[in-house]
Amino acid sequence: MTASRYYHITTFGCQMNKADSERMAGILEDMGFAYSEDPNEADLVLYNTCTIRDNAEQKVYSYLGRQAKRKHEKADLTLIVAGCVAQQEGEQLLRRVPELDLVMGPQHANRLQDLLEEVFAGNQVVATEPIQIMEDITKPRRESCVTAWVNVIYGCNERCSYCVVPNVRGVEQSRTPESIRAEMEELGRLGYKEVTLLGQNIDAYGRDLPGVTETGRHLHTLTNLLDYVHDVPGIDRIRFATSHPRYFTERLIRACKVLPKVCEHFHIPFQSGDNEILKAMKRGYTREKYRQIIDKIREYIPDASISADAIVGFPGETEEQFENTLKLVEEIGFDRLNTAAYSPRPNTPAALWDNQLSEEVKSDRLQRLNHLVATQAAEKSQRYLGRIEEVLVEEQNPKDLAQVMGRTRGNHLAFFPGKIEELKGKLVDVKITEIRAFSLTGEIFCKL
Ligand code: SAH
Ligand code: SF4
Ligand code: F3S
Repeated sequence: MTASRYYHITTFGCQMNKADSERMAGILEDMGFAYSEDPNEADLVLYNTCTIRDNAEQKVYSYLGRQAKRKHEKADLTLIVAGCVAQQEGEQLLRRVPELDLVMGPQHANRLQDLLEEVFAGNQVVATEPIQIMEDITKPRRESCVTAWVNVIYGCNERCSYCVVPNVRGVEQSRTPESIRAEMEELGRLGYKEVTLLGQNIDAYGRDLPGVTETGRHLHTLTNLLDYVHDVPGIDRIRFATSHPRYFTERLIRACKVLPKVCEHFHIPFQSGDNEILKAMKRGYTREKYRQIIDKIREYIPDASISADAIVGFPGETEEQFENTLKLVEEIGFDRLNTAAYSPRPNTPAALWDNQLSEEVKSDRLQRLNHLVATQAAEKSQRYLGRIEEVLVEEQNPKDLAQVMGRTRGNHLAFFPGKIEELKGKLVDVKITEIRAFSLTGEIFCKL
């Protein structure tokens, strides 16, 4: 049967948005829509948007402009903006792009069907009021059939002075351990092998759930959750992101060490290596505390892979303060670092300060940091040469069909010769024979 209606989703932004898109796609397929790769062939176009930096937001407007134009020829086109720009702009988006049918914030993702019914009844709908997020009722249409995202906590209660996320994602809402486990069990049954537990500040998991221990501590924590879901049948690997240095615990490191399915990879953004800047960012920790966390991780798990995010050119950052970031990066030796130049965001305190730096200074610092990171990551990955790494095979290598690709436990991309029909979803021991800038290459290791 060919579908009578087609949908297209383009997703911008982080893993939370990707997970939301997969759930919205599931809802649309349930409603009888079929996926179209090409937005210009679709009857319903949904942009799931990101506003973390200005360039992310601007990209959305240019995509949207093209579809708004198309709607003048195809009046029955349904045009939707979901995600963080939708939440930030709300009604104003309708004024800017009157062709829009639906503007929906991230908390409303699971309500897509209800909202669309209002649209099909002839209304232009804006859904951005804060709500209690509904538990999933539909099957997400997941991008991969090997690895899957599972949200554990929505929103963020921090108030980092540069960040829009608390404004657009709302307050923290943890899912219950039972519903998280139930989703993972279903994934296990469907043949998924790896799950990444998601939260903007995953260490906050459980703070908002009822229940305290005898000593007055929260009953539900990320560490307890990892314990609770660890034996889900079929799931071989568990990851989690993103960790916040302020709340990161030694208990969590211990759990990662003793729970074999939990991968030895930590994503812990530090943002700046300078204490004054960290204070102005309202991050709530110092560079010393950050270093202690990494030292602790390496004490328990010497080979753990460590990644992070950093911002350069925060308002008022001096050359010396920027150099403290370079120094921290040198001292730690990251496997991967996501870097960004500071971008002033609406309704965030730092955007209003009068000590903003010029674009030239910011981009110069960004280049210098990126250069250091590239050299360092290349050096760090040399340690894998000749080693046997466990790779979970996800896909064929699109650039070399004789190869398959997957990730090591440390989250490094790895390629090796093999047939995808035989290897998809398998954990394979791979001997690493070649190190590239962002990937490892190897061959299947046969135990004799
Ligand atoms: N919750 C995570 C980060 C979420 S946003 C944490 O607390 O670390 C992802 C990354 O975008 C951040 O780590 C930060 O490095 C970057 N970022 C956020 N706001 C930014 C801004 N205004 N300008 C530049 N980069 C920003
Ligand atoms: Fe933004 Fe800070 Fe929350 Fe991360 S912890 S999402 S940087 S406010
Ligand atoms: Fe972007 Fe929203 Fe994620 S602003 S980074 S999509 S939480």
